[in-house]
Amino acid sequence: MKVIHFTLESIGQAAREVSFLLKPGMPLLLYGEMGAGKTTLTKHIVLSLECCEEVTSPTFTIMQSYVTVLGTLWHIDLYRLDEHSTDELGLEELNKQDMMIVEWPERLRAKFFLTYTKATLKVLENGTRELVLEVVN
Ligand SMILES: Nc1ncnc2c1ncn2[C@@H]1O[C@H](COP(=O)(O)OP(=O)(O)O)[C@@H](O)[C@H]1O
Ligand SMILES: [Mg+2]
Repeated sequence: MKVIHFTLESIGQAAREVSFLLKPGMPLLLYGEMGAGKTTLTKHIVLSLECCEEVTSPTFTIMQSYVTVLGTLWHIDLYRLDEHSTDELGLEELNKQDMMIVEWPERLRAKFFLTYTKATLKVLENGTRELVLEVVN
């Protein structure tokens, strides 16, 4: 288990540390309440992988892919989906070949991914973010 504390000033360094954990077959499931900073962190992870494309709000797009120096990275936001719809996105196949960050992984059925990095983002009292990272398998 690894714990990272960061603010908007140090988010670049935090994003880089998290980016090292991304690889095909090891999706990053990003937990945290609305406003915790999941999309903002993802945006900086994409930037740290030298992607030249802007991350738009996945609230409207559900799935977006980026070509990065390490290969394709998917940013998936399941907020608006139910368990039934998530089964139709083909995430298992994408996970085999590409890197993946999933917001609102609570929407997935239990044991959807057998192996993953669980990342839990929390807002501390002073506004600093705490990210707890654990490998689950
Ligand atoms: N590390 C941080 N420190 C301070 N504010 C942050 C941080 N990360 C995100 N924010 C702010 O919190 C708000 C919500 O962020 P967002 O990434 O949309 O959250 P989520 O995707 O978890 O709902 C934004 O206004 C953003 O600027
Ligand atoms: Mg979000």
